[in-house]
Amino acid sequence: MSPFGPLNGRASKPLQFLTLAVGLLAMTVLSMPDPDASVRTAAVVVLWCCLAIYAADLSAKAWPRAGSQPNYLSSAAGIIDLLAVLPIPIALLLGVPAQTAWLLASLWILKLATAVPGLSMLGRVIALEKRALGSVIVIFLTILVLASVALHVLEGPAQPRQFGSLPLSLWWAVTTLSSTGYGDAVPQTFLGRLIAGIVMISGLGVFGLWTGILATGFAAEHRRRDFIRNWDLVTQVPFFKNLDPPTVIELTRMLRRLDLAERTVIVRRGRPGDCMYFIASGEVEVKVEPHPVKLAAGAFFGEMALLTGGQRMANVVTTQPTTLLALEVADFHTLTAHHPELARAVAAEAARRKGSSEKPSPPAKGKTRERKSR
Ligand code: CMP
Repeated sequence: MSPFGPLNGRASKPLQFLTLAVGLLAMTVLSMPDPDASVRTAAVVVLWCCLAIYAADLSAKAWPRAGSQPNYLSSAAGIIDLLAVLPIPIALLLGVPAQTAWLLASLWILKLATAVPGLSMLGRVIALEKRALGSVIVIFLTILVLASVALHVLEGPAQPRQFGSLPLSLWWAVTTLSSTGYGDAVPQTFLGRLIAGIVMISGLGVFGLWTGILATGFAAEHRRRDFIRNWDLVTQVPFFKNLDPPTVIELTRMLRRLDLAERTVIVRRGRPGDCMYFIASGEVEVKVEPHPVKLAAGAFFGEMALLTGGQRMANVVTTQPTTLLALEVADFHTLTAHHPELARAVAAEAARRKGSSEKPSPPAKGKTRERKSR
């Protein structure tokens, strides 16, 4: 069993981050010149403990057993775990001084790549946008090469120490194009300065393109993931079960998922209505007088204010952790315009609810539970 608990277990994450932070801190302390003997011993003990934890974690994951990932050691996570465990003892066995050998603990930081899901998303975005990113790299390299050759020709004779060879002027081009500008090499000729100006402005353009491509890639990937998650929820709502697949796709794009904690107020009486909600899982309570009504998974609410264009007629609160699908008012009107049968079903339910709210109430016997909506 891994010291971090079950493979990829959520509860193990804080423990993994803590081990990493403590290990890196100990490595930093050990790297300081002439640390106090007791501090040094404490840092070494901490580092050995972290290494032991990582070794135990690795052997637990790599040990062949039912349910474990086959060929774990050849996966990216397995290679990172191996890099965390093996290099330090090998370096110590080869006689590398302890202070230097323990610097290999910096490889533990690679474990963050497997612990943070956002990085796998970045990898996917880069893979999907590789053509666009590749073309920006080509622009970058083209400017780099042309500018460094031009500056070598124009500035080389007057400033041989800064531009006397292509590698030297290439260094100038990299620092200028990346907007770093160390100022260690500055063109003196008019043409050299003109080219430097063009390179600086091009640098801003190239990094703007990079940012734009990655940002749109991330947004598209988020939309894709949301779509897949919403699709599963939408197909579970009975109200949508008779819709044809193109409409379900349209609806999945329109709906926004909300994961709410218990006792969250979703709708407030008297407020204008801007969306209606479908309950994918959990339960809400509609605070109508004299007896609140509970709505379970599959039901919808918040439709009345959209139909009348008026105000919310009751507070609606979650009674347990609940997942809702919110449909904005503009999308509600688009959907009901294209699907009159849905519009009729929503209007019929709203009329039934309005009627039941207006009926004189029978003697109170406690809360009523509403049947699942069709
Ligand atoms: P709306 O008025 O927009 O916001 C409050 C919502 O509570 C309302 O829409 C209905 O969806 C819901 N609601 C109101 N009365 C009842 C009722 N008697 N039974 C079930 N739901 C109701």
